[in-house]
Amino acid sequence: MALRTIREQEDEILRKKSREVNVEDITLEKNQALIEDMLETMYRYNGVGLAAVQVGVLKQIIVIDVEDGNGPYIFINPKITKTKGEKECDEGCLSFPNEFGKVVRPTEVHVEFYDRNAKFTKLKAKDLLAQAISHEVDHLNGVLFTDKVIPGTLEYVEPKN
Ligand code: NI
Repeated sequence: MALRTIREQEDEILRKKSREVNVEDITLEKNQALIEDMLETMYRYNGVGLAAVQVGVLKQIIVIDVEDGNGPYIFINPKITKTKGEKECDEGCLSFPNEFGKVVRPTEVHVEFYDRNAKFTKLKAKDLLAQAISHEVDHLNGVLFTDKVIPGTLEYVEPKN
């Protein structure tokens, strides 16, 4: 495994759309290594989720760990098929390491995706997991949380070191 560099702020790649992964390619070593590296990078920086575009790879791959005892979750080619509810959520993003704000997210998300073994899977997610899926799927479409932040709620927090 290897730590990858996180693309930040105004890096134009964050605005690009990620491409679907061919299902037969999911189990290839290069994609499995990418997933391992994304997990290592997410944990190293204490993130809840990370999209491949954030490490400079335009593939529809997301890793999430909300410490619910079932993670980490790996979503490949995720499609949100249904959402329910709305909630104002406190949110940040590893690509904006010092910024936090409130964003309206669904309280429940139904998602279809392939797992890292190329198995087609459906999941109903709630609360923090639903928020994280919504945030990370936005990344795959070039959408950032700062686009959706409720005006006046974005705060800059001084780096700790
Ligand atoms: Ni993010």
